[in-house]
Amino acid sequence: MQTKHVRQIQIDVNGEPRSLSVEPRLLLVHLLRDQLGLTGTHVGCDTSSCGACTVLLDGRSVKSCTMLAVQADGRAVTTIEGIGNSKSLHPMQEAFWAEHGLQCGYCTTGMIVSAVDIIQRNPDPTDEQIREGLGGNVCRCTGYHNIVRAVKAAARAVRSGARRKSVAEVEPLTPPLEAPPVTGEGIIPHREPVGAGGE
Ligand code: FES
Ligand code: FES
Repeated sequence: MQTKHVRQIQIDVNGEPRSLSVEPRLLLVHLLRDQLGLTGTHVGCDTSSCGACTVLLDGRSVKSCTMLAVQADGRAVTTIEGIGNSKSLHPMQEAFWAEHGLQCGYCTTGMIVSAVDIIQRNPDPTDEQIREGLGGNVCRCTGYHNIVRAVKAAARAVRSGARRKSVAEVEPLTPPLEAPPVTGEGIIPHREPVGAGGE
């Protein structure tokens, strides 16, 4: 029987130094999700197309499905869990919420990580620069307009030195829709099917 080839690697994960045993063929995304339980990093395609698996490697966004875990040896990886959490939201997380930059949320963690990289490189990006920067992140739901608005809002917040908030402190900019009053108008009355009643 063949023995498994295992390599020992050192990675700083979300600010914590980790010593990890990995198979040389293990992808970084699987190390994060399956070995470290950091399931905020998603897998959408596995072919480097969707960006759901985006993390920061030494502060720069990379698709973690396109690199091996051993290639991260000696480097720093930041996942969405390291960007912020419900008690201390990164302005980008707050802005995605406030500006309705998500629907199903599947793309959102990768989208936020990429957007954080964009505003770290360019604190005041234009709409065009944001769209170009997010070119590797695909969203099936939102139509992208609110995502761009969210990135601009986050950039403004970071430039003004806004403090991080907890989930409980965030208010969406648009108030939730009120349910329309029930009037009975437009309701098709129930009718007995033709032939009912023993005809
Ligand atoms: S899962 Fe990595 S790009 Fe889609
Ligand atoms: S919010 Fe559903 S894929 Fe982007």
